[in-house]
Amino acid sequence: MAGLFITLEGGDGVGKSTQAALLEASLTEAGHTVVRTREPGGTDLGSEIRSMVLHRRGHIAPRAEALLYAADRAHHVETVVRPALERGEVVLQDRYLDSSVAYQGAGRVLGADEVRDLSLWAVEGLLPDLTVLLDLDETASRSRLDSSRTEYDRLEAEAADFHARVRHAFLDLAAAEPDRFLVLDASRDRADIARAIGDRVRELLG
Ligand code: TYD
Repeated sequence: MAGLFITLEGGDGVGKSTQAALLEASLTEAGHTVVRTREPGGTDLGSEIRSMVLHRRGHIAPRAEALLYAADRAHHVETVVRPALERGEVVLQDRYLDSSVAYQGAGRVLGADEVRDLSLWAVEGLLPDLTVLLDLDETASRSRLDSSRTEYDRLEAEAADFHARVRHAFLDLAAAEPDRFLVLDASRDRADIARAIGDRVRELLG
């Protein structure tokens, strides 16, 4: 495909949105057309799914939860991401299938491979050209989140050991696919992080 597909991953409160905004601004300034989007919730249908998975009260069966994220992803990729890539645009996306593996896998009910296979089926195998993993110790990301929120969604409210498992799942994914991932220490200065991401993206854009 002609475009470039970039995803940002990491725990809650690691600064993904800040980095996405900085990268979007610099790519736009350089003349690229950027589609900035996110999962869950990058489409109208996705917004409905997002409120179900994040704000619905009460238990959601783990397989149902995994299927809801996969359904959001299937619709998003077919209607937003692939068309943009086919037009040759840069898709800059907050979270993708690695989040499903890390979060739904961290519940310990579902295995990483089955969650990944489900998502790959949903998106007909589409993987990002680059995945930026912003890595932060879970106590540091917790305190960043606590200073910016008064209310938490279902996943943010999970216990610390859940977030520690999420973090390690992301690091394992990055280690398994070192060419796709760029892992950055999210406690670094935000301008440094932006520079590191920008360098890699410019390399990919040639
Ligand atoms: P995000 O949009 O980053 O949340 P916020 O706007 O609150 O910063 O992500 C929402 C939550 O959804 C986040 O806790 C991770 C979770 N999530 C999954 O569990 N599985 C997935 O496949 C995706 C995409 C997100």
